[in-house]
Amino acid sequence: MADARPFHWEYNPEPVAREVFRIEGGRPLSGSVAISGSKNAALKMLAAATLTGERCRFTNVPEIEDVRVMAETLRDLGVVVDHPAANTYEVASGDVEWLFVPLEAAAKMRASFMLLGPLLSRFGRVIISNPGGDRIGRRPVDLHVDAMRSLGAEIEYRNGYYFATAPGRLRGTEVRFPFVSVMGTENALLAATLADGQTVIRPAAQEPEVDDLIAFLQKMGAEVARTYPDTIEIHGRRRLRGADHSVIPDRIEAGTFVVAGAVTGGRVTLSGAPCDHLAAFVEVVGRAGVGISCGRDTIEVDGTGIDDPGFRACDIQTAPYPGLATDLQPPTSVLLTQAHGVSNVHEAVFEDRLEWLGELNRMGARAELQDDHHASITGRTPLQGAEVEIGDLRAGASLMLAALAAEGTTTIHGAHHVHRGYENIERKFLDLGARIERLAEGTDSTTS
Ligand code: EPZ
Repeated sequence: MADARPFHWEYNPEPVAREVFRIEGGRPLSGSVAISGSKNAALKMLAAATLTGERCRFTNVPEIEDVRVMAETLRDLGVVVDHPAANTYEVASGDVEWLFVPLEAAAKMRASFMLLGPLLSRFGRVIISNPGGDRIGRRPVDLHVDAMRSLGAEIEYRNGYYFATAPGRLRGTEVRFPFVSVMGTENALLAATLADGQTVIRPAAQEPEVDDLIAFLQKMGAEVARTYPDTIEIHGRRRLRGADHSVIPDRIEAGTFVVAGAVTGGRVTLSGAPCDHLAAFVEVVGRAGVGISCGRDTIEVDGTGIDDPGFRACDIQTAPYPGLATDLQPPTSVLLTQAHGVSNVHEAVFEDRLEWLGELNRMGARAELQDDHHASITGRTPLQGAEVEIGDLRAGASLMLAALAAEGTTTIHGAHHVHRGYENIERKFLDLGARIERLAEGTDSTTS
């Protein structure tokens, strides 16, 4: 990543190692898979650690590209980030010299915008790149900026960057969002922990990752609590201390492996899986006729009924937690291609998150887009191996699921998208009996 010192605007994206997955499908998966720590919790913890100059230690952090990008972004600010062992990160933000988050970071990972709240609140100023949109939607950050302004910040937008200052200290207030935003809630929450006075956030996101962030902040000495399901209250403190925290398991990764077991007609056990964070998803999978049972931290999946009696079509709608997670819409859509009947999919959170279905249709699915938010899937259709292209992280993992269920061999271009958010995904599939290899684009030489 470019040295952010001295100040410069031009952006030279680093070349991405283009890789493909080659998957030979049609084999029932079986065995056990351990679920890794949550990407969408870990990234916010690393940002939250900049609220104190003391050392913070995180365990159960997934070994994924997004975490590596966040660590690098922090190092470029002058933050000390150590990686003493697998899945373990230590962060010490004593001397943050350069309060500038460049386009390079934002272009690679939206969650870099999570540095706005903590840096503004602790240091009173930051220049941060607008992360812009991606393949799943326009994804503006206006709610984040409005929340900071309501806490007393002054923010100007120039040349793709937000110039934010907090003359004196941020001031506690009521932060009212027009609708639920996960990172909007989290950015306001982090900023409010060092603000002067009380802040009330509503409607606050209820995602388990937000509660995990609250648990970490409480260990840092922050006065923060969820007082109602959709309300978070914070009493600002002058400073916070370092703390240790173990990141919760990744419910989206867990849901992805549930579908892997189901659509291959296999039997898979997920260990370290957060079933209680997946109620809406487990309800849909059960309604479709997949055998699924939850233990304290395990999930048993039985997909052997895929041929007889077969899975049933289901209508689904995504929503903020505790609704069905939008990140599980793509994997669930693959399951619905193997169900008998017509399923209606309402993607209510993001406006471009159904386009990937076109790639699934290249493998023999019958998905029809009605508009930006609605599609229907007619099943059951046998899937065949094909050459497909990944556009984003969750669609990428879902094309891998379709390839595992398909007859023949599938080549999936854009493997790097999946590594952003899934730890060792090929290894995990291999251990469940899949035939999968990772190849450098345009060669037959394996890279795994
Ligand atoms: C988080 O994104 C997750 N990312 C997303 O996961 C997840 O899909 C999303 O929450 C919803 O659950 C991380 O935690 C890093 P939002 P976030 O703000 O916070 C609109 C993955 O695959 N909006 O809750 O950016 C927005 O466009 C990723 O792991 C505004 O209009 O999502 C969307 O339509 C993908 N203005 C809706 O709100 C704003 O300022 C909900 O988005 C903010 C959001």
